[in-house]
Amino acid sequence: MRTAFLKLLAVMTVVMLFLAPGATDAAAQDAAEPTPVDRSATGGAQTLEDILRRQRGEDVPLDAGTGGANSGFANQGALSNSELWRGVRQGQAFTTTAQNPNAAILVQDEGTRWLQTRQTVLPTYATYAILGMIALLALFLLFRGRIRIGAGWSSIKVERFTGLERFGHWLLAVSFILLAVTGLSLLFGREYLVPGLDWMHARMNPDAIDPNYGRDAYAGFALVGKWVHDNVAWAFMAALVLIFFMWVLRNIPTWTDVKWLAQGGGMFTKKGHHPHARKFNAGQKILFWLVILMGGSLSASGIALLQPGEYTMFADTFAKLNEAGAAVGYTLALDTTLSPIEEMQYAQTWHTVVGVAMIVIVIAHIYIGSVGMQGAFSAMGNGKVDLNWAREHHDLWVAKLEKKGRIPRPAGASNPNTRASSRAMPMRAPKKPTPAE
Ligand code: HEM
Repeated sequence: MRTAFLKLLAVMTVVMLFLAPGATDAAAQDAAEPTPVDRSATGGAQTLEDILRRQRGEDVPLDAGTGGANSGFANQGALSNSELWRGVRQGQAFTTTAQNPNAAILVQDEGTRWLQTRQTVLPTYATYAILGMIALLALFLLFRGRIRIGAGWSSIKVERFTGLERFGHWLLAVSFILLAVTGLSLLFGREYLVPGLDWMHARMNPDAIDPNYGRDAYAGFALVGKWVHDNVAWAFMAALVLIFFMWVLRNIPTWTDVKWLAQGGGMFTKKGHHPHARKFNAGQKILFWLVILMGGSLSASGIALLQPGEYTMFADTFAKLNEAGAAVGYTLALDTTLSPIEEMQYAQTWHTVVGVAMIVIVIAHIYIGSVGMQGAFSAMGNGKVDLNWAREHHDLWVAKLEKKGRIPRPAGASNPNTRASSRAMPMRAPKKPTPAE
């Protein structure tokens, strides 16, 4: 019995001696080669599983997940020093020997907020504002109709704007429209135009869809658009200066303007009633000052965007606003220590907000200067307006012209240089069909 037990023990020992090395190898292999992690979802970059394994104390290679399609952006796994990165994510500028002022900032947290605003808030509200204004004008045209010359066309034309004035206006208008179209295409490009182009391409080529079509097509357009935007801006600024000096004196507000505004410009009173106005009525004066102030601000923020890091426009403005607030006992506490990159972010946001607001205003102006008001366009077309139109919309200006004898007289009329005789002229011709509109 004892011998049999010893024999069994010997056999078991031999069996174990054969088996044990294999078992040890398998266990060692298990430890050295954990189940491979599927990193396809991150393009080869580190996954949550890598992090969890490290936290469990498992042996994850230090370079795990730093390869793959995103390798340039993947974090460094356990090589990443979280304390260091926590330290640099403050958006503060430190010192460096590099010349670019933005080089002193490694990570700027506010950039994320700015990017979200740029990608979602700005394009969304810009769409609402522009489409809203177009809808409002369509409704106005539908319910109020075109503003017509109440007394019909006369046979007399009065000079309203000189050649230089019209040149200034059209330089401003054409450059602004180019800036608006290219600016909006840059704002809407990624969110609207690229998917729109992809959609069109897919409809037209259902059998050979190129997934990069939208991006490629837009890239070419954006390149040209950016060039046009950056260069046409100088023509816009020149035109702004020109119209400012040509028209500033005529746009100084007067008591007549207050009364004009109080009557809503005659827009909502009985048809044919027009409040008194000089060469420019209050509505036009408001447009003039908005164009000058908003155009000036657009230009300043645009120059700041063209020359990154050169200006402290927003920090200076915030300091002034803080001072102004304090002067009236209000604490604004706006940040006046903006880093160069924050200056750029404010400049970009401001440039877009003011640009879109100006586009909305100009859409209304274009409407009223063309389809919205009979007889208005020729003022900027050939420089002349119908006398009846001028009398209805700018009666005080016409009165002044009459006084100076600058109203052309119709054939056969006597002395045009006195108010009495000009009154006697057949200014208000009976209504006739309006082919010259
Ligand atoms: C196709 C586009 C445009 C048309 C048809 C148009 C039409 C006109 C007309 C007819 C006038 C003269 C109104 C009058 O006799 O009292 C005028 C004036 C003026 N326009 Fe335009 N315009 C256009 C674009 C622009 C743009 C883009 C701007 C500015 C960015 C602008 C700024 C002005 C200003 C400041 C005045 C003088 C103030 C006033 O009369 O309202 N215009 N425009």
